[in-house]
Amino acid sequence: MAKKLLGDPINRVDGALKATGRARYSADIKRPGMLHGVLVMSTIANGKITAIDTADALKVPGVVNVMSHQNAPKLAGMDKNKPSEIATDRVLHVFQDDLVHYNNQPIAMVLAETLEQATEGASLVRVTYQTQPVKLPLPAGKADMSTPKQMPRVDDQVDTKRGDLAAGLAAAINRMEETYTTPTMNHNALEPHALLAYWEGDKLTMYNATQGISGCQKRVAEIFGMPKENVRVITQFLGGGFGSKGTTFSHVMLAPMAAKLTGKPVRLVLKREQMFGMVGNRSATVQRLNLATGKDGKLLATAHHSITQTSDFDEFAEPAGTITRMLYACPNLDTTHKFIRANIGTPAPMRAPGEAPGVFALESAIDEMAAQLRMDPLAFRLANYAETDPNKDKPFSSKSLRECYRQGAERFGWSKRPAQPRSLKNGNYLRGMGMATTVYPMNRGESTALVRLKPDGTVQVETATQDLGTGTFTIMTQIAAEVFGLSPDQVTLSAGDSIYPTSSVSGGSRNTASTGSAVTQAAQEVLKKARQMALKDPKSPLFNVAEAEIVVQKGGQLQQKSNPKVGEALTSLLKRNGNKPLEATVQSKQGDEKGKYSMNAFGAVFAEVEVDELLGEVRVTRLLGSFAAGRIVNLKTARSQVLGGMVWAVSMALHEKTVFDPRNNRVMNANLAEYHVPVNADIQEIDGFFIEEADDIVNPAGVKGIGEIGVVGTVSAIANAIYHATGRRFRDLPITVDKVLA
Ligand code: MOS
Repeated sequence: MAKKLLGDPINRVDGALKATGRARYSADIKRPGMLHGVLVMSTIANGKITAIDTADALKVPGVVNVMSHQNAPKLAGMDKNKPSEIATDRVLHVFQDDLVHYNNQPIAMVLAETLEQATEGASLVRVTYQTQPVKLPLPAGKADMSTPKQMPRVDDQVDTKRGDLAAGLAAAINRMEETYTTPTMNHNALEPHALLAYWEGDKLTMYNATQGISGCQKRVAEIFGMPKENVRVITQFLGGGFGSKGTTFSHVMLAPMAAKLTGKPVRLVLKREQMFGMVGNRSATVQRLNLATGKDGKLLATAHHSITQTSDFDEFAEPAGTITRMLYACPNLDTTHKFIRANIGTPAPMRAPGEAPGVFALESAIDEMAAQLRMDPLAFRLANYAETDPNKDKPFSSKSLRECYRQGAERFGWSKRPAQPRSLKNGNYLRGMGMATTVYPMNRGESTALVRLKPDGTVQVETATQDLGTGTFTIMTQIAAEVFGLSPDQVTLSAGDSIYPTSSVSGGSRNTASTGSAVTQAAQEVLKKARQMALKDPKSPLFNVAEAEIVVQKGGQLQQKSNPKVGEALTSLLKRNGNKPLEATVQSKQGDEKGKYSMNAFGAVFAEVEVDELLGEVRVTRLLGSFAAGRIVNLKTARSQVLGGMVWAVSMALHEKTVFDPRNNRVMNANLAEYHVPVNADIQEIDGFFIEEADDIVNPAGVKGIGEIGVVGTVSAIANAIYHATGRRFRDLPITVDKVLA
């Protein structure tokens, strides 16, 4: 069957389970004799534990043990607890020593028969410390910068130079230089990090909220010093993760350690405030942008210098400048990344890590330059359109950005935007329109899938993959169904469990490209077996027909391409040939495509805002995104993804900020009352749509990522709209009431 470029918007296969409350998340799983663990967190940011008094905690009825560095099992694989080669493995704090590196670091765990008893016990553990001076996060502490060893995507260079920046600046007619700052942010998935862990002999099972079942299995095996086969990770459902569950953090080791110590299954669910420190954050950034243009509005020079932050024990470098290297044609360009070390939990990928804060800076600067040139911001972007990737000096596998601009602008009504800021009003509100380019690289990991076609015409797919809540389970069935010309309800998926073939992390918008490609290839392999079976079977109408001549049509019908009347159903072929299933397992990974092409999803986002200057209130009244991301498997789940991303951008532009107490780096707003995210009332008109884009190069599934592209450009589209409304630039996120009133 020919692949549909815009796939059917079918409902989620797990929709009914979720709507009726029958879907069970990791924190819902019970086990007889299970203990509840509650963590005790550090209250200093740097120093050493000198004493832990557990006497009162142990007196609480039902409390059976308090695990700390004094009695925790020693872990055989701790020599592997080091800054990792890959972004997703972090240095862990699993009670192996008495050191404290950040505030809200786990230092003990109370184990009790009920959650209430464990909570009471945890409140009674008394810890004394010897403290050390605190290294502050950005914007303080800028003096002590260093250069990261690597970027999270290891093929991204830390610093780049192209052409001659000084010459480009000298030759230019217009120049701008500004600094843009973004705050530390914390992932706040609705579902907290949670797991239930139990041992059966030397075999460990965990129901764990993870974005990467296979990666988690590997990391746990590594830290416990045991074979991977002895670790089973199950994630039936996830309530979001946004990057903080892509990394395996300390708590994932602490629950099985406690289960070992007590000989009982242990459930550990993080409290909301415990999610501000130990499970990652988005690094704050300080970014300096220089742009310079010649007389025709073409960019002659671009510089993007980023300072980010990491912890004092591990390295994660927010890759804020990587997109600047490739988004526009510009002959002379420098980008650098530096970070400072602070006593905070290690940052982690957070929905569009690097791209979201970095493109906020870039696309704000582009808008500022367009204003300086008195050019329409969209026309300025078109004047600097990159026909090939200027960073890699390679062609794009596909790039439909012009079409995104065109269709987005038309649907939004961009032509109605007056050039002059402060020229639109709605009552007391100043109204403004802004736009930006959005982009996200195509990432692909290794995934394996088994596909089994049964004689009854149904298909079974097995792969370990988790579903973040994005619809992965649904679209894997669609992908398999399409290859056989079947309907998705004829496909069952077994997934969410490491007993199935290894699959990619749901991170970096890569899982459909990765696991979707594995399912595509395994299904195609089975179909090939069926074709060969038919052409070798004298009883088949397709006997002796050339393999390439045999195609599959709707309903699972094999037929001769040049003579569609000749053919038979897959079911009759299989029944006649031993009534046995046909199956194939395929491990799918990237070939040398990335060496030959630059592969990215692109889009254009348009925002309309209203600003009440007397009250400092900003309302995002309209958001529209047009996206070209290769083949879209399911228009409904895909649209949800990009809308979710755009809501994230409203959050980043106007609301989100983690606030540290400068005395001790304790997060002062570690709760959903004071860590602001948008609510329904903050979101008015919002829509996203997809451009048809065929890309046979990118991967066998023909898809690019859509999980992150919604947020990337939208942040600056909103900031640019605020400029258009007010005539004022806001270069420090979030753009809150106090800043608008200042
Ligand atoms: Mo995403 S931040 O790669 O889960």
